[in-house]
Amino acid sequence: MQVLTTIAEVRAARTRWPALGFAPTMGYLHAGHISLVERARAECGAALASIFVNPTQFGPNEDLDRYPRDPEGDLARLEAAGADAVFLPSPEVIYPPGFSASLDLGDVTRRLEGAVRPHHFAGVATVVTKLFNIVQPTRAYFGQKDAQQCVVIRKLVQDLDLPVEIVVGDTVREPDGLALSSRNSYLTPDQRARAPALHRALTAAQQAHAAGERNAEALRAIIRRTLGEDLAPATDYVSIADPDTLEELTTVSGGALASLAVRFGATRLIDNVRLQP
Ligand code: PAF
Repeated sequence: MQVLTTIAEVRAARTRWPALGFAPTMGYLHAGHISLVERARAECGAALASIFVNPTQFGPNEDLDRYPRDPEGDLARLEAAGADAVFLPSPEVIYPPGFSASLDLGDVTRRLEGAVRPHHFAGVATVVTKLFNIVQPTRAYFGQKDAQQCVVIRKLVQDLDLPVEIVVGDTVREPDGLALSSRNSYLTPDQRARAPALHRALTAAQQAHAAGERNAEALRAIIRRTLGEDLAPATDYVSIADPDTLEELTTVSGGALASLAVRFGATRLIDNVRLQP
């Protein structure tokens, strides 16, 4: 596995692969990331992962400084997953002095996570565009766990005619339902024990929808009730939204995205499930 740190090194390496699958990450890799790298390799014949903790997608009071990092462990995991290369740029490589671009993709970035984290998706869209331009992947792989990020990146690719196919991999979960996330490492044992409530609540809505409930507010109420009273004050949002625009629904007539964000102390966890048409 090649370890690349400059744009020139990535461009030189890129000429070796007729097709390339790309998994952009912020490191501290878990089985969800690894499943994307393995799929990228299986589908494209070659896989490149990037590890870059992108400062512009963190708000001023967020966890940039304490975001978990394990570069050596990550390299070993990527090697074992069969990655052909990893791009590990420094902040100066991505944001050289004088850099000032920022991409605004409109309403879809202001809903849900965007309402709580106003600059987050501009940071994500900008860095992902830069990474796509540097890596020039055939396909890029993202996890459904960050459902809004997937919607924003599809819009980015569509609006800017970027020549890359976006592939979304299923959320990978712990046996008790908790979605894998690098931020799970922040949870205290007590918070970790309560965290599976997110998936339980979403599953309850999914079951009610499968049994015929189409009233979006009733589905939101089921999620809130299943989350329980102790998590209610820590819930940033409970959403039943159109899966493409993320606009809140009144009635679920086609498919929908059920999603939520809950704070456990200083740690915010997000999760979602699809309500199939
Ligand atoms: O999902 C992530 O880890 C990040 O948001 C991404 C896509 C690597 C951009 O920094």
